[in-house]
Amino acid sequence: MVKTPKPNLSVSIGKLELKNPVMVASGTFGYAEEFKDFMDLKKLGAIVTKTITIKGRQGNLPPRTCETPAGMLNSIGLENPGMDKFIKEKLPFLKKLAIPVIVSIAAEESPDEFTTLVKQLEMIEEVSAIELNISCPNQQKDKLISQDANDTFAVVSAVRKLTQKCLITKLSPNVTSISEIALAAQNAGSDAIALINTLGGMSIDVNRRIPKLGAWVGGLSGPAIRPVAVKMVWDVYNKIKIPIIGMGGIIDTVSALEFFIAGATAVSVGTANFINPRVSLEIISGLRQYMADNDIQNLSNLIGRLKACKD
Ligand SMILES: Cc1cc2nc3c(=O)[nH]c(=O)nc-3n(C[C@H](O)[C@H](O)[C@H](O)COP(=O)(O)O)c2cc1C
Repeated sequence: MVKTPKPNLSVSIGKLELKNPVMVASGTFGYAEEFKDFMDLKKLGAIVTKTITIKGRQGNLPPRTCETPAGMLNSIGLENPGMDKFIKEKLPFLKKLAIPVIVSIAAEESPDEFTTLVKQLEMIEEVSAIELNISCPNQQKDKLISQDANDTFAVVSAVRKLTQKCLITKLSPNVTSISEIALAAQNAGSDAIALINTLGGMSIDVNRRIPKLGAWVGGLSGPAIRPVAVKMVWDVYNKIKIPIIGMGGIIDTVSALEFFIAGATAVSVGTANFINPRVSLEIISGLRQYMADNDIQNLSNLIGRLKACKD
């Protein structure tokens, strides 16, 4: 009997080699240690940290989250300990896991802060990749960097000169043309595009006539945004050459598969971690099963393979 080879789930994102394409999305998995009692963290494709800024931040006023139909709103406001404390207190645990660690970073006041942060991370061998969060909706700014193609190009090209590490640019869905912004990031030297961050949203308590979030507005995530995210992955896949890390409402294997077929090379699981901390591992097993059932040996044979008509 001919033995079918085991499905190969490994993918490459620039220089970054992943044993499987499932990672956990920034801000929904802390710094991984919080999840150590629930699962074998070493099985994840990669971990993306909560976004780090130069100085620590306390974040926005509570309430910072509320449930919405098929999703949630958050206005955390980038609460984090700051880069120095992150390196001292959080990174040692992540280093021990021996899986790729992607550090997400953001600027508070000036885009120049990205260069300071990247210089610091460039020195740390165990940091496998850097994700530029130029798309956080919770900083009460009039315009995000990722809402302007020129601003996106300027930030990405400035940091590209400073790092040999895999550079990922995370984009906001709150734009007119996501592919225009993705192209700017690619042209500036980004190794990959992560999309999508949350969609701007608001929810109101009608009895008290007050906003449900302390910051009034926040970012919408979860299954409610999945069709928007899948379309954006598809749009961007058709315009750029670098890999896409897709996210937005992934809760199971089937929802992850939608992203691969639309063109994502890897996926990130966010809000679903709050419901089932083990969901990413279940998706990894589910992908292996789907590939075996459908005679797909390499995951790369699934990426962007949307068919134009029914069989
Ligand atoms: C509570 C919460 C906090 C988040 N914090 C961050 C963050 O710090 N940096 C970031 O790039 N994205 C952050 N995000 C966005 C997620 O990484 C992800 O892009 C988005 O939620 C869509 O995926 P999902 O629908 O699977 O959650 C956060 C999302 C949630 C729900």
